[in-house]
Amino acid sequence: MEAVKLIPAGKDYLWGGDRLKKEFGKQSEKDRIAETWELSCHPDGPSTIAQGKDRGKTLARYIEEQGKGLLGKNCEEFGEFPILIKLIDAKQDLSVQVHPDNAYAAQAEHQQGKTEMWYVVDCEPGAALYYGLTRELTKQEFQKHIEDGTLLQVLNRVEVHPGNVFFIEAGTVHAIGAGILIAEIQQNSNVTYRVYDYNRTDAQGNKRPLHIQKALDVASLKPAPVRKWENHLASCRYFTVDKIETDTAVPIHSDENSFHHLLCLDGNGKIEWRYGRLEFKKGDSLFLPAGLGDCTVSGNFQALHTWVPAPPAYRIGIDLGGTNIAVGIVDENLRIIAKHSVPTQAKRPYPQIIEDMAKAVFSALQKAGISLEQCASVGIGSPGICDSETGTVIYSNNIQWENVPLVAELRKWIPLPCRLSNDANCAALGEVAAGAAKGYQNAVLLTLGTGVGGGVILDGKIFAGCHSAGAELGHTVLIKDGERCTCGRHGCLEAYASASALIRQTKRAAENHPESVIWKLCGGNLEQISGRTPFEAEKQGDETGKQVVEDYISYLSEGVVNFVNIFRPECVILGGGICNEGARLLDPINDHVSRLCFGSDKVEPPKVIRAALGNDAGIIGAAVLK
Ligand code: BGC
Repeated sequence: MEAVKLIPAGKDYLWGGDRLKKEFGKQSEKDRIAETWELSCHPDGPSTIAQGKDRGKTLARYIEEQGKGLLGKNCEEFGEFPILIKLIDAKQDLSVQVHPDNAYAAQAEHQQGKTEMWYVVDCEPGAALYYGLTRELTKQEFQKHIEDGTLLQVLNRVEVHPGNVFFIEAGTVHAIGAGILIAEIQQNSNVTYRVYDYNRTDAQGNKRPLHIQKALDVASLKPAPVRKWENHLASCRYFTVDKIETDTAVPIHSDENSFHHLLCLDGNGKIEWRYGRLEFKKGDSLFLPAGLGDCTVSGNFQALHTWVPAPPAYRIGIDLGGTNIAVGIVDENLRIIAKHSVPTQAKRPYPQIIEDMAKAVFSALQKAGISLEQCASVGIGSPGICDSETGTVIYSNNIQWENVPLVAELRKWIPLPCRLSNDANCAALGEVAAGAAKGYQNAVLLTLGTGVGGGVILDGKIFAGCHSAGAELGHTVLIKDGERCTCGRHGCLEAYASASALIRQTKRAAENHPESVIWKLCGGNLEQISGRTPFEAEKQGDETGKQVVEDYISYLSEGVVNFVNIFRPECVILGGGICNEGARLLDPINDHVSRLCFGSDKVEPPKVIRAALGNDAGIIGAAVLK
């Protein structure tokens, strides 16, 4: 593992100058270089390796070959290279522009949004830039200023000096002014909406296109806040930037959390690590892979030091059920700090359900008193076959969905990395991460509700099978040609061991036994029967109730032994309201397993335990999906 020097991609936009060539040693056949993309895996301008056997390879290819571990754990949530670092030499004014946030950019451009920061490396005396608006505007006012060509009147003009820092949150209207040379650290995106271009034309006499509608969609119409950081030049979830200005040695610890980048703005120096060293000078760009270890930079130089900080502390978990959508905000200790639930009303068109899901997220955030920015990701557990790769619910028997692009739809509202898995998989993961099976590596969970969900954790990870369509334990046949299941087959475990099945069995028994206490318990209305009713009847000495309970337990026990024989987990977790019956349910199942599972007298049989987190398991598991 080694630090590598990078060669940037250059851009010769019409407003550029020649300082990057003359003062920063950048190469180009053209007279002017407007921008150099110093750290870039963006296809529009990739940087390449400058030295050694990998010389000439794009950084993206280099990372692909060496493994994504080079980027570090903090980058995992982004799915792609997270940042782009440029030097920009504005000989003339840049156009007035605005960038979209992640949600808008994902939908409109299939790219990341663009939040960025500028460090003023150098500038001519009196040089100025535009940063946000001078006052709050209505959309109509903003549009009118664009159409009249009077936008500059309402832009906040700031005179700059070397060393100034500006944090340009997505949505901030801005423009770099003539005579400014800046270093820009931004999200890995090449999306810009131009709103005003000083009526300039290129060499062929053409004006550059404006993107007024999109700009109107994304622009923040309030004055931009001035943000300052105590310990850094700037920091946000995409990057943290420090300035190193030294004539002594400075340590950099490149651990497994993030890669580091050095951009030398002046002077020269060297970086040394355990097995190597590299010299650098003004204009050089250095990529230090994650895990390089302790490094020392020394010399007489000024540089920007950038890395990707730890993701925010909170995660959002969504449990999509046939009846309710339950949202929870989960903290670092896997505790739910706020919850919000809304009815699913599953028969509606899916965009409406997903919109309600997003609104429930915002309500839960409000209850928790935190913002979306403080959340690292959102995870959804949905019934049915959930393709985690594409974020699609391929088929759900419970909510009657087919090929619903759940992740893409939700990201229109919630611009966070978004993951999807089956609801029971999530519940199993939740119980293993923070509940009854904490510390176990291999566990099987059955949720006994409207259906029977199956979640399998093997070696600490969800086992979902091909197309994430596996682990449907409720749809394994217990009784050949038995009762019809919601999946279309007959005799599935779900048709015998779900809460719905128990209710159906109790109703049937009551119909055959008019003397049963079940009638009294349901006030003479069989529709009032719940999963608790037969257990309550049994407690009151009712033979019919006792028979229903015993039959139900024996169906479930057979199912559990089958799964023990297939997976031999460390424990089997049972979830769902029926588990409130405690020992009455669990003792006979444990007895059955310890007598009948394969080799029970040779190796210790697993314990059947009750889920500890109740409905929260699905939320927590969804939140920690990777
Ligand atoms: C579905 C499963 C789901 C379970 C619990 C079953 O009917 O087929 O995918 O996990 O119900 O919601």
